[in-house]
Amino acid sequence: MEEGKKVEDSIAVISRVMMPPDANIAGNVFGGTILKMIDEISGIVATKHSRRNVVTASIEHMDFLYPVHIGNLVTLKARLNFVGRSSMEVGVEVYAENLNNGDVNFTGRALVNLVAIDENDRPVDVPKLILETEEDKKLFQEGYDRWIQRKSRVKAMKDADSGKKE
Ligand SMILES: CC(C)(COP(=O)(O)OP(=O)(O)OC[C@H]1O[C@@H](n2cnc3c(N)ncnc32)[C@H](O)[C@@H]1OP(=O)(O)O)[C@@H](O)C(=O)NCCC(=O)NCCS
Repeated sequence: MEEGKKVEDSIAVISRVMMPPDANIAGNVFGGTILKMIDEISGIVATKHSRRNVVTASIEHMDFLYPVHIGNLVTLKARLNFVGRSSMEVGVEVYAENLNNGDVNFTGRALVNLVAIDENDRPVDVPKLILETEEDKKLFQEGYDRWIQRKSRVKAMKDADSGKKE
């Protein structure tokens, strides 16, 4: 395994024009359509960093700021914010472009946590993240703080679950 990899080594961008099956009868794109694209691009980023099979462990945060319509070109830009031992936090930004006039809306952002797993579906260590810019360092620190909070939240959920089974 490589010792460390840069943020830029795993950045990904994907675009797709929204079609009728992506939307309701009024032409508004389903949140689930965008969530699926977010899940896909997060998986691409985490796989590029780890070169392992990855699974989505949680979606920490998702805001939709403006509606997206059939015919819009939706573009997602994603990067690693934070890397733990086996987990990786990916930040995704979503843009929607009206192809008729070129107007672009910043539609929303998401934070997705993925975990690299081995052949037995067990978590496996991933390369460290090399932080080059002030932005890299700021995002990493914020991701670290969420990682710490999440660990106690997940532990509390697991403890509550094991209590139910007893
Ligand atoms: C994610 C998964 C592999 C973690 O397994 P686990 O037995 O809980 O493993 P651990 O407790 O050792 O945690 C491993 C890592 O996952 C992280 N993790 C565990 N649960 C998490 C959650 N809900 N959200 C974010 N990260 C989580 C831990 O913080 C830890 O990170 P680190 O290695 O960077 O310290 C396991 O919960 C799983 O397979 N979940 C289902 C994932 C899936 O199938 N997603 C698609 C749904 S259809």
